[in-house]
Amino acid sequence: MNVNDTEVIFSILERAGYSRTEKMEEADLVIANTCSIRDNAEQRIWGRIEVFHQLRASRPGLIVGIVGCMAERLKDKLLDTHKVDLVVGPDAYRSLPRLLEAVRPDAPQIDVLLSRDETYADITPVRTDRNGISAFISIMRGCNNVCSYCVVPYTRGAERSRDAHSIVREACDVYQKGYKEVTLLGQNVDSYLWKSEIETVTFANLLERVAAIAPDLRVRFATSHPKDISDEVIYTMAAHPNICKHIHLPVQSGSSRMLALMRRKYDREWYLERVAKIREVMPDCGLTTDVIAGFCTETEQDHADTVSLMDQVGFDWAFMFAYSDRPGTLANRTMQDDVPANVKNRRLSEIIDLQNRKSLERYRAQIGKELEVLVEGPSKRDPGMLCGRASNNMMCVFPAAGRSKGSYTTVKVVDCTSATLICE
Ligand code: 5AD
Ligand code: SF4
Repeated sequence: MNVNDTEVIFSILERAGYSRTEKMEEADLVIANTCSIRDNAEQRIWGRIEVFHQLRASRPGLIVGIVGCMAERLKDKLLDTHKVDLVVGPDAYRSLPRLLEAVRPDAPQIDVLLSRDETYADITPVRTDRNGISAFISIMRGCNNVCSYCVVPYTRGAERSRDAHSIVREACDVYQKGYKEVTLLGQNVDSYLWKSEIETVTFANLLERVAAIAPDLRVRFATSHPKDISDEVIYTMAAHPNICKHIHLPVQSGSSRMLALMRRKYDREWYLERVAKIREVMPDCGLTTDVIAGFCTETEQDHADTVSLMDQVGFDWAFMFAYSDRPGTLANRTMQDDVPANVKNRRLSEIIDLQNRKSLERYRAQIGKELEVLVEGPSKRDPGMLCGRASNNMMCVFPAAGRSKGSYTTVKVVDCTSATLICE
C-alpha cells in the first residue's frame, strides 16, 4: 500500500515538473513515506531523518519531507524536534507541489488533513517496480474497522472506495503497457462498495470486471477480512481462471477471547468455517495470514489456541509480529500492555518455528504437481534460473530455457524449501 502511495506521489510531483533521481546525493528534495503500524517501523524513520540531516549539511537547501502515517501521527515532533521542512499526511498528497513552493528554511509546511472522499482516482501512479510485469492498484483507502490494536483508522482515516471505472481503466492501461498481473489493494477489500446513480459495484463485481479485461491478465488482491469475505467472492474467484487462487486472510489470534478483545468481529469457529469454505470451493487455494503474539492479557492458553489454529489450518506463509502498543488506539487507551517482552518474544518464536515447519509441509505437498507460472525474471539467488509465482502465490524457480519475462509457462515441481518451489 505504501509503495502504491509512493507511486501516486511520484506522479503528482512529475506533473509539477519534478524528476526522479536514483542517487540521494543528487536530490534537491528527499521524502520518506512512512508507516506507523508498529513502533519499530517508526524507529527506523527517526534514523533515516538523521541521515537526511547529514545530507543537508553538505547540501544546503535540500528539502526534507515526511509523508504518510507518521506525518499524520507525529506532526509536532517532526516539525519541532526533528526540523523537517515538509509534513504531509496520506490524504494530502495533491497539496505537495503547492507546499513545496512555499517551503523556506524558517517556514516548514504541513498538511495532514484527512479526507472523506480522496481516493486519487484520477492519478495514474508512476510505476516504481522494475520488472514491468506486476502492478499494484489501490481500490480503496482508509479503514472503518476499529481493531483495538491498530493505528490505521486514525492515521489513514475513514474507508472510501474508489470509482470502479477508474480502477478498470487503470488495469486496462497497465495491461496495454505490457503488465500481466494486477494486485487490487485495500485494507479490507471485501467491503469495497462503489455506487453511482446507475450502478452499485461490490468487490465480487469489481473482480469480475478486472478479470474480464483479458484472459492473460492475472488478478490478485489483498487484504481480505475474515468477517467480510463472502461466498460470492469465493465463487467469483473459482469461476475465473485468471483470478489467482490465493487469499491473504489475517487471523491475528486463534483464541476467541483474544479476537473479542481485538474487536475483530469474528471468532475462531467463524474463521475455521471460512477456511473450510475456501478449501471446499478451491482445494488448491493458497492461504496466508498475519498473527500477533502477546496482545494485552494473552495467556498461555490463548497462545496455545493460536498455535493449534495455525497447526490445524496449515498456512502457506504467515507474517508474525509481537504486539506493539500504539498510542491512541483503543487497546492503548483501555487495556494494559501486560505481556512481558520476553514472553511475547518466546511466543513469537514458537509460532515462527511452527510456521516454518508448516510452510515446508505445504511446499512439499506441491512436489510432483504441474503449475502455471508467470515468468517474472531472473531468480535472485541464481541468475541462471528464472523465477515466477504460481497462481497460489508460491514462488517457483526453473531453468530459463528460452522463456521470456511476462510469458506463462507450465513447470513441474521437483523439490522445495519452505519458501520456494524448485521446478523443471
Ligand atoms: N502490533 C503488532 N502487529 C500489528 N499489526 C497491526 N497493528 C499491530 C500492532 N499494534 C499487524 C496485524 C495486521 C498487520 C498489517 O500488522 O497483524 O494484519
Ligand atoms: Fe487495522 Fe483492523 Fe483496519 Fe486491518 S481491518 S487496517 S487491522 S483496523
